[in-house]
Amino acid sequence: MPPLLDTRASGRLSLTAMTGSKSFLGGPAVATAGFNQDYLGPTIIMRNGDLAAEVNNTLDEAVSVHWHGLMLPGEYDGGPHLPIAPGATWRPRMAIAQDPATAWYHTHIHERTAAQVYSGLAGVTHVTDGRDDQRGLPAEYGVDDLTLVLQDRRFDTTGRMVYDPSMMDRMHGFTGNRILVNGQLGAAAVVPEGIVRLRLLNGSNARTYNLFFDDARPMHLVATDGGFLPAPLVLDALRLSPGERAEILIDFAGGGAPVLMSDPEQSYGVFPFATDSELSARITQLPTVLDGVLEDFTDAPALTRQVSLDMGMGGMMMGGGGFAINGQPFDMDRIDFEVALGSVERWHIRSTMVAHPFHVHGVRFRVLSENGAPPRPENTGWKDTVLVPGEAEIVARFDQPAGRDVPLMFHCHILEHEDAGMMGQFTVS
Ligand code: C2O
Ligand code: CU
Ligand code: CU
Repeated sequence: MPPLLDTRASGRLSLTAMTGSKSFLGGPAVATAGFNQDYLGPTIIMRNGDLAAEVNNTLDEAVSVHWHGLMLPGEYDGGPHLPIAPGATWRPRMAIAQDPATAWYHTHIHERTAAQVYSGLAGVTHVTDGRDDQRGLPAEYGVDDLTLVLQDRRFDTTGRMVYDPSMMDRMHGFTGNRILVNGQLGAAAVVPEGIVRLRLLNGSNARTYNLFFDDARPMHLVATDGGFLPAPLVLDALRLSPGERAEILIDFAGGGAPVLMSDPEQSYGVFPFATDSELSARITQLPTVLDGVLEDFTDAPALTRQVSLDMGMGGMMMGGGGFAINGQPFDMDRIDFEVALGSVERWHIRSTMVAHPFHVHGVRFRVLSENGAPPRPENTGWKDTVLVPGEAEIVARFDQPAGRDVPLMFHCHILEHEDAGMMGQFTVS
């Protein structure tokens, strides 16, 4: 597990972006970056209330810390308008006020996000209310409550991790040939023979996982990006695109050594589990209900917007461009949408060429439809990122203010696409 950074007692949080060096499975060491360590960052536990953060940048280029999944005003969002210069410190004084959720944080410098996240500048956040015992959910960090960051990385024949996107990689997003879990190659989890909670984050630049267990054991989905479901949903496969999180419960009673796999058609192993009967299983019953409350906004008057995620072959040939939203590549100085504070909007998202994972800052949304049909089960809860193979309709209330100098972003979470211009920004006032 990543180290824990528990902010609940102090209401304070200190992160330092630093360069590192890491060798994977005994291969040659490569230059990496992380928060407070060589690669990735600590798992931050927070509760509702004031949180005084401090982020130091010891790199020789600007980084930022975007709190993906935290409901915060534009001035604390940590997006491309809030770069932390080399040697500088950013001190957002935030007020956390939201339902419990698994969120994450990562750097978000325009045109540098893909390379910087790939190098390791990301970590997980748990927003908790301390009531998981009442919910009957496993909550012992690293024992029956596992945080798993899934990232594919490319290793060359000498075992060196590389990031050297070609034209094709920029087009499809950069994918790897090995899967790291929490920054480790070849790791495994030893779990008790009971119910175990997996908090999964797809922290990959571009790869979408279609997760399942090799012995077909069911996954019980309890939370999506923005919080708990009203009741667990049984799934035999779970799709997770870049930026998305899911919390699932797995029943390991009866032992065994199941492997979490991806892609039923051309399957590969993601993460192996082993059970240990010596470990005490604290939770042995699956909860039947949870306390997630979903809103569907059906009665709210809503403005409708069209969002086309554009990728043009022509533009690609003309010099690597062609990535845009509604025909316009991202421009730091252009506000794309002006949203009224507290209003509800329906956005109709359309992908071109490939399936794009669509993310909006500062809101949690519901998916109303996917290609004209009801959403997939894993998209029925609160979301902030959703894969759009075709079309999707989402609805959200915009409760976080954001001025013209610190607008909120919406973009494709394939980081190469985002950096190439598939991003827009909006104010909320
Ligand atoms: Cu996870 Cu705008 O990003
Ligand atoms: Cu975000
Ligand atoms: Cu995309």
